Amino acid sequence: MSRSMTAWLEQQAAVRERRGLVRTPMTRLGGDPGVDLASNDYLGLATDPRLAEAAREAIGRWGTGATSSRLVAGTTALHLELESGLADLTGMESALVFSTGYLANLGVTTALGGPGTLIVADEHCHASLIDGFRLSRSRVETVPHNDLGATGHQLRTRTEPRALIAVESIYSVFGDAAPLPQLLALAEEHDATLLVDEAHSLGVAGNGAFQGRGSVAGTELAAHPNVVLTATLSKSLGSQGGAVLGSALLREHLVNRARSFIFDTGLAPSSAAAALAAVGIIRAEPWRAAAVHRNASSLTAGLMHFLQWRGTAVEPFQQAGAVQSIPMRSAAAAQEASKAAHRAGVRVGCFRPPSVPDGVSRLRLTARATLTPHDIDYACATLRRILEETP
Ligand SMILES: Cc1ncc(COP(=O)(O)O)c(C=O)c1O
Repeated sequence: MSRSMTAWLEQQAAVRERRGLVRTPMTRLGGDPGVDLASNDYLGLATDPRLAEAAREAIGRWGTGATSSRLVAGTTALHLELESGLADLTGMESALVFSTGYLANLGVTTALGGPGTLIVADEHCHASLIDGFRLSRSRVETVPHNDLGATGHQLRTRTEPRALIAVESIYSVFGDAAPLPQLLALAEEHDATLLVDEAHSLGVAGNGAFQGRGSVAGTELAAHPNVVLTATLSKSLGSQGGAVLGSALLREHLVNRARSFIFDTGLAPSSAAAALAAVGIIRAEPWRAAAVHRNASSLTAGLMHFLQWRGTAVEPFQQAGAVQSIPMRSAAAAQEASKAAHRAGVRVGCFRPPSVPDGVSRLRLTARATLTPHDIDYACATLRRILEETP
């Protein structure tokens, strides 16, 4: 690297250090992870032997890699079966699988965006959506979180022929829900497309017979012409990969125009096979989604008293799925608390700027299905003690 570049990197590192914002990859050591409130393996499927077996079989048949882009030689029968399984699970007409959820968001926003499309984005949208908005060269209007009035105003006053409203059904950091029926009404009124990222909802949300099938399945949004979904296969589905779900016409457009689909090696067949096994398990074992909600309520109950005592200005628990978040007074306090929890055998996420939409550092907890009542009691007692001691 040049001297000027090196000097700049050193200066950037010093700023991160001063602000308590240094990030380091968390290494998983294997074996007993302690009480895991950090991972997005919401249903406990990442270590399910049925997924491992499906992946092994796929490697035996197709090899370890997809070998090329989906358009060249990277599509196997597994990819196609996974696409129809995902469409069926979510109640959408069709699906297209990408190699990550990040690339699915990039693909759909760039393929639907452009100079003739206004994007109205919730301010809490995930980085992968934001990057897609920027790449798309659309005009982007960011509206306050879950603000229907501001969304309607932007749609009403637009000059572009097309508009895309971008939201997450359950938000990744706060864990709260988007008002989907009202957003759909706005989309219909203003001839807009509603793009819903189901990353934290698939496997967890859904009512009655649709439990675990996401926030959209079984509602008026499913297969609605104005609705497009994205999903990741790396959270509840315990695998890797992503998908865009919508009409067959949309799928055909993405195959031809989404650069993150066209110019990327296809999803590894083993990941497609594991995700496909997970789709079957989500359907057959709705108790997993129910367990997430039960565990989320127990975590809320176990930490609520402490949070009220803390008197934070930010509403702590508006949780709609597995994600809960505890606002902290500073990035350094969040980091200190998460390290102390880790030492005590409880893993929690530590989210600091720029990963928090409002700049408030947080501990992020995931109420995973396979936590036991003892895990939750221990985690709550440990976190109460640590948070009381954290300045
Ligand atoms: C809301 C949201 N969308 C998209 C993604 C990206 O998914 P993936 O990890 O499969 O790239 C994530 C996850 O990190 C997410 O939280």
